Amino acid sequence: MKVLIFGSGGREHALAWAVKKSPRVTEVVCAPGNGGMAGIARLVPTDLHSVPSMLAVVEAEKPDLVIVGPELPLSLGIVDELTARGVRTFGPTRAAAMLESSKAFAKRFMQLNNIPTAAFAVCTNEAELHKMLHHFHPPIVVKADGLAAGKGVLICDSREEAHEAALGLFAGKYLDAPAEQVVLEEFLVGEEVSFLCLADGKNVLPLIPAQDHKRIGEGDTGLNTGGMGVYTMKGLLEEGMTEWVLHHIAQPTIDAMAADDMPFKGVLYIGLMITARGPMVLEYNARFGDPETQAILVRLESDIVDVLEACIDGHLGGYQLEWSPGASVCVIASSAGYPGSYKSGLPITGLEKVKEAQVFHSGTKMQDGELVTSGGRVLGVTAAAATLREALNRCHTALGKIHFDGIYYRHDIGHRAFSKEKH
Ligand SMILES: Nc1ncnc2c1ncn2[C@@H]1O[C@H](COP(=O)(O)OP(=O)(O)OP(=O)(O)O)[C@@H](O)[C@H]1O
Ligand SMILES: [Mg+2]
Repeated sequence: MKVLIFGSGGREHALAWAVKKSPRVTEVVCAPGNGGMAGIARLVPTDLHSVPSMLAVVEAEKPDLVIVGPELPLSLGIVDELTARGVRTFGPTRAAAMLESSKAFAKRFMQLNNIPTAAFAVCTNEAELHKMLHHFHPPIVVKADGLAAGKGVLICDSREEAHEAALGLFAGKYLDAPAEQVVLEEFLVGEEVSFLCLADGKNVLPLIPAQDHKRIGEGDTGLNTGGMGVYTMKGLLEEGMTEWVLHHIAQPTIDAMAADDMPFKGVLYIGLMITARGPMVLEYNARFGDPETQAILVRLESDIVDVLEACIDGHLGGYQLEWSPGASVCVIASSAGYPGSYKSGLPITGLEKVKEAQVFHSGTKMQDGELVTSGGRVLGVTAAAATLREALNRCHTALGKIHFDGIYYRHDIGHRAFSKEKH
């Protein structure tokens, strides 16, 4: 069968790699893809901001299965359009993807359905903001309602600062467009865990939990990024916690979406904060995470195409996934200057020497027959092994062989797990 994947990041490279392993798959097409995928997939240009452009690719390619990677096409309704045309497509509808594309929707949904989350208020203007700010104690989290690629969240140390931040979001200061709604949130303290599940509209099937490292600097310092590295291992969630999250968060979310006539099919990514009051939902995403997907898929032993099709067909009930035991790590190699401004077009060398890890490309392209950097996050060097230490060592050995000007990566991915080991 022929599989088409929409997207161009490390997540999509990992998806293409996993799909390619399926004996059922004869061809993988990525639109638009990136420099690293060229070896395993055929690349076709498309504009992920444009539904007609994506529909044209599907029309021309006639794939047997379409996988939608990023949130933007989901929020534009690409799954609705393709499903209406009879194309088998993995991902939620536009309405179901609102769990990610509108934070105000997601917070109200959680409140209505008793899903544990931070206290919040949704404000649509300055008067409401004045009124509601008094109910919050600093630090106060201020979020834009819509998709903001990580730039729409501000953590403020005083009410004045929160006021300023919210007005800035209303005025369109931090994002491309003014926010119509701003969410104020209680600041939660704890450890973050990415809990990804597959859903078929009715049933949920958890993937292995992962822990991301969002800050640019070692020891979780400095600016927020798209994610600088992630790991998975047994014990990341305490015994019984996965069951708790499934019964109190994941399944109730899927049940309530179905009851509201917005059945959720696809990946439900639950961003959890493990607080003193128990796990609470920081956010939902409606797709695979990046870089979580890289570290999760290197441990998946089952055929990914089979399980994605089970989601589309509503056959997830009783489905079991096989995982390799042990741990996995993905370390992101980024361009100097990221998440601020950085140079692109720098030649990347040494990849052919890497044998101990899987290198998933995030921001690379082929230019005059040469592989060059084309983004802030450039490569996701990923390895699975019996222990977290061994997986990390493999990533570091591989990174020692790879070069581009100004290559930067964090050396402390997994530090929370290592510090727990010592106690
Ligand atoms: N209520 C909160 N308390 C403490 N920290 C928070 C809270 N809400 C968000 N954060 C921090 O801000 C980060 C981003 O928040 P959130 O996940 O809601 O934004 P996002 O833009 O949707 O992110 P992503 O790009 O991961 O989807 C979280 O990972 C967390 O570190
Ligand atoms: Mg999000």
